[in-house]
Amino acid sequence: MTAVRVALGADHGGYRLKEAIKRWLDEMGIAWEDCGTYGPDPVDYPDYARKVAEKVAAGECDRGILVCGTGIGMCIAANKVPGIRAALCHDVFSARATREHNDSNVLTLGERVVGEGLARAIVEAWLTTEFAGGRHARRVDKIKEIEKAYSGSGC
Ligand code: RB5
Repeated sequence: MTAVRVALGADHGGYRLKEAIKRWLDEMGIAWEDCGTYGPDPVDYPDYARKVAEKVAAGECDRGILVCGTGIGMCIAANKVPGIRAALCHDVFSARATREHNDSNVLTLGERVVGEGLARAIVEAWLTTEFAGGRHARRVDKIKEIEKAYSGSGC
């Protein structure tokens, strides 16, 4: 099933690409919620990673897409929220594979890394690819076990 509601977030390094993604989602008929930032002024990427990740973890949105300059900071920060499996993808193969194999629920992108054409293809592939389940479900369950083992440990 294609995601029906997507939370979007970016810092100043990803603001322009986030605005483009909103237009693409409109064309795909996919609802989105913009968690900021709302302009090009410098901000701190963890603030936006947290907003989007918490919306997805709480079930308020099905998926999240986060953009910063590299996509790396957003990915690191989003993955700190329990229940989030954020994946940094800068090619279409990885975007499909991380849905099929990892059931990733947040995609992160680097505006300073990919052009808009490739970013659009990545977003479309990631949003329309299903989790394959089977042996991959067992592995995702093991990720959840790690998360559970360390929850509240402060590590
Ligand atoms: C901001 O300059 C930059 O550090 C940020 O957008 C991101 O690339 C961090 O990972």
